[in-house]
Amino acid sequence: MLSWRPELYGRSLLRLADFSDEEMLALVQLAIDLKARRRAGIRGDLLSRRHVALIFEKSSTRTRNSASVAIRDEGGTAEYLATHDIHLGSKESVKDTARVLGRLFDGILFRGFKQSTVETLAAHSGVPVWNGLTDDFHPTQILADLMTVQERFGRLKGLKVAYVGDGRNNVANSLMFGCAKAGVHFVNCTPDALSPDPALVREARGVAARNGAAVEIVSDPRRGVAGANVVYTDVWVSMGEEAQKEQRLSLLRPYQVNMALMEATGNLGGDLIFLHCLPAFHDCETAVTAQSGALEVTDDVFEAPFSKVFDEAENRMHTIKALYVSAMADLSAM
Ligand code: CP
Ligand code: NVA
Repeated sequence: MLSWRPELYGRSLLRLADFSDEEMLALVQLAIDLKARRRAGIRGDLLSRRHVALIFEKSSTRTRNSASVAIRDEGGTAEYLATHDIHLGSKESVKDTARVLGRLFDGILFRGFKQSTVETLAAHSGVPVWNGLTDDFHPTQILADLMTVQERFGRLKGLKVAYVGDGRNNVANSLMFGCAKAGVHFVNCTPDALSPDPALVREARGVAARNGAAVEIVSDPRRGVAGANVVYTDVWVSMGEEAQKEQRLSLLRPYQVNMALMEATGNLGGDLIFLHCLPAFHDCETAVTAQSGALEVTDDVFEAPFSKVFDEAENRMHTIKALYVSAMADLSAM
């Protein structure tokens, strides 16, 4: 039995605030149900003859492939459209592209730069649109994160998540809202120069308050992670911000997630996990780490038993499938 919410049919996800707290949690539950269904060997046809366009201005491993596998698993198709493949924003306006794709596809997932692009696609396509990351938000990522936390702890409300690093990026912004909506205490550990937009923090604090939680911005990472059940980090230089690399590295080196910081939670060996949306610069073989060594997280943390980053990566697929199923499948007979 799938937890189905008819009011989610046809709905877009441009940022987490687009869903009520209950709707967001229902999507996480639906993703858990769909994961169990897939583990039981069921590849159904919930999305039979449904077609999605995947528009990508930025590169992607997880989001692109999750978005593609999620629909094929349930009998639909996906068309990957890199911006050099289509006219979007160059020879054709975003509004016109939206109106064309909306005639052909049942939904559109967009990854790119401006939040206004995904909003324009949603306003003019006439089909559900999902934000697969913009400069401002990464809401589909946070559904997978909440799912991973729910799987590990069996609950969300009352837990504490400490995000450590670039406090004003897309992941930090969306994680703040996801935690606030789920009643999770959220601490953003970041230098003052990278603190999030005060208007967003005010909005998130309002959401957190109605769920008995809090949103804190703390510049001392050791203080911020104390009592945390989840330590979360992301890259120090997001896509499109490469020009700021040197400045970011010097600001964020004290914010590296290493074993000493995990110990500062006071929960090592107990109720503690590490999450990272990935890709990650640990001591791995990449062009960047060959020069710099580990950046935002050390290898011993990344590879530790309490690191759930690959469960989190897998859960991108189940949560995107939950978005598709809730927005495009007719589950009324189930
Ligand atoms: N976490 C995430 O969005 O990964 P990709 O950039 O590989 O899609
Ligand atoms: N903040 C990162 C997230 C990557 C999934 C970026 O935007 O590059």
